[in-house]
Amino acid sequence: MSTVKQFDVVVIGSGAAGLTLALALAEQAKVAIISKSELSEGSTYYAQGGIAAVLDAADSIDAHTADTLVAGAGLCHEDAVRFTVERSRQAIEWLISQGVAFTRESNPSPNDGYNESNNDYHLAREGGHSSRRIIHAADATGKAVSETLVERLQEHPSIETLEHHVAIDVVVERDNPTPTCSGVYVLNCETNKVETFHARFVVIATGGASKAYLYTSNPDGASGDGIAMAWRAGCRVANMEFNQFHPTCLYHPEAKSFLITEAVRGEGGKLLLPDGESFMHRFDKRGELAPRDIVARAIDHEMKRLGSDCVYLDISHRDPDFIQSHFPTIYQRCLDLGIDICKQPIPVVPAAHYTCGGVIVDKRGSTDVKHVYAIGETSFTGLHGANRMASNSLLECIVFAQAAAESILTEISSTEWQNPPQLWDETQVTDSDEDVVISHNWDELRRFMWDYVGIVRTTKRLERAEHRVKMLRKEINEYYGNYRVSNDLIELRNLSLVAELIIESALRRKESRGLHYTLDYPRDNRHAHDTILFPPKFCP
Ligand code: FAD
Ligand code: SIN
Repeated sequence: MSTVKQFDVVVIGSGAAGLTLALALAEQAKVAIISKSELSEGSTYYAQGGIAAVLDAADSIDAHTADTLVAGAGLCHEDAVRFTVERSRQAIEWLISQGVAFTRESNPSPNDGYNESNNDYHLAREGGHSSRRIIHAADATGKAVSETLVERLQEHPSIETLEHHVAIDVVVERDNPTPTCSGVYVLNCETNKVETFHARFVVIATGGASKAYLYTSNPDGASGDGIAMAWRAGCRVANMEFNQFHPTCLYHPEAKSFLITEAVRGEGGKLLLPDGESFMHRFDKRGELAPRDIVARAIDHEMKRLGSDCVYLDISHRDPDFIQSHFPTIYQRCLDLGIDICKQPIPVVPAAHYTCGGVIVDKRGSTDVKHVYAIGETSFTGLHGANRMASNSLLECIVFAQAAAESILTEISSTEWQNPPQLWDETQVTDSDEDVVISHNWDELRRFMWDYVGIVRTTKRLERAEHRVKMLRKEINEYYGNYRVSNDLIELRNLSLVAELIIESALRRKESRGLHYTLDYPRDNRHAHDTILFPPKFCP
C-alpha cells in the first residue's frame, strides 16, 4: 500500500546547487534531498577547472562582470551578472568554511593568486577571463566540492537523503486561484514503486540536458529532467538554443565523456592540427583563450576542412612537475590510455557540455509556479547569455542556492500546506515487454541532435530534427501512457521534450549569436532578445 511522505522542502538533485540549498535549510526545515543515483553523481562531481570569483586584489567586480557580458554575446542580464559576481567572494568563503580544500600557491607571487589572510590560494585562468580568477582544487574541483558538501550533509541527520530515487513530476494544485505546488511523484528504484511526496516547497536542482547530444562531457543523468518537469508543471523556459560545446574532450575509443579542462589552455596549452600547425590565432586574437563558442567552432571548422577525427592540445612544453601537480587527474587518465601529456599532445574533440537556457527564475530562484524553485544548471537566471563563461556555473549554483534558501526560510512560516497529491495511479498500465523501443529512441534522438542541432546549424537541418522529434515524442508518450515507468523511460520522455524545446528555440532565432550559429543567418541582429517559450495549458 503506497503512502504519502511529508516534508517542508523536497530538493530534487544533489549537485552543488541542491547540496548547498539543503545545507542552508537544515536547521530550520524538514528537508528531503533526492537523487536519481548516488548523492555525488552529477556534473558537479566531474567539474575540473574551478570556480570563478573576484578574489585577487588586482581583480574587480566590474572586470568579472564585463568579461561575463562579453562572453555572453549581448544576451546576459546585467543585473543577474552583477548579483552573482558581487556574491562570488562570499560563496567561496562559505565553501572554504565547509572544508573545501582549494589548491594553494606553492610559490606565491603577487600576480598569481589570492592571498588574503595568508591563504595563498592559486588562481587559474580560463577562456574569456581577463585575469586569473579561478579558484580550484587541482583539476578535480567538483569532486572536492561534492565530497565536502556530502560530508557536511551527513552531519545533519535531520535531512533525509534518498539515493536512487527519480523524480517524475512536480504536482501542482490547479484548483487554487494561483496554481501552487503540493508535492512530487518519485520512482524509488530499489522497490520499483512510485512514491508520493507532499511538500510545501519543491526545489528543482537536477542539472542540465547535454545528454541530448551523442557526444557529451556530462554524466548519464544529464537528461534535462528538471526542465521537462518544470515545463509540464507550467513554467516558462528561456534560451534553450544555447547549448555549449566544450572545445576539448578527450578523443579516445576507451574514454567516455572525459574532459580536458580549459585551465590547460589557461596555462599555455596550444591547440594544434594533426600536422602540428597552430590555428587558433587565425580565428580570434585571443587565440586559445577566446570564449568557448569561438574555440569549439574553430575546431569544428578545421576538423571538417581536413576530414580529421580530432585536433590536439599540447601542454608538453611546460615543466613535467608543473603538469603533474596542476593536472594530476588528467595526467593519470591519459597515461592509463597510453598518452603521456608531459611528452605528447592530447587528441581532443568538442562535445556537448552545458545547457545555458533553462527554467526562468528570478533572483530568489523562484519559478512561475508558486512554491517551485529551480537552481543550478537547470535554471535560467540571465547570467550566461548566449554563451556561459568558463567556471561561472558552479558559482551560479552556490549563489542562487543560497538566495533560494533565504527566500524559502522567509516564506516558510506563513506557507500553508496544500492538500496532499493523489496517490500515483498504476491501474491502467502494465510491465513493458519491449524495452528495445526505449534504447532505440535514445540512440536516434541523440544522433540527430548531434547531426542537425549541433555546433553549426541550418534551418533545413533544424526542420529535419523538428520533424523527427515530433514523431519520437508521439511514440514515447504513447509508450509512457501504457507501461510502468522506469528510470530509462522517465529520462527518455524528458530528454525528448527538452530536445523539442531546443529545436523550437533554435528555429525561432533568426540570427547567429554566441553558441547558436546558423549558416542561414550568419550575423547577429542589432537587438538582442531572449527566446522565451510558454508551456501549453496541458503538456504531456
Ligand atoms: P548536477 O551537479 O548536474 O547535479 C544534478 C543532480 O540532480 C544529480 O544529483 C542528479 O542525480 C540529480 N537528478 C537529475 N534528475 C533527477 C531526477 N529526475 N530525480 C532525482 N534526481 C535527479 N562548471 C564550473 O563552473 N567550473 C568547472 O570547472 C566545470 N567543469 C565541468 C566539467 C565537466 C566534466 C562537466 C560535465 C561540467 C563542468 N562544469 C563546470 C559545469 C558544472 O559542473 C555544472 O553546471 C554544475 O555542476 C551543475 O550543478 P547542478 O547542481 O546544477 O547539477
Ligand atoms: C573546464 O574545466 O574546462 C570546465 C570549466 C567549465 O565548464 O566552466
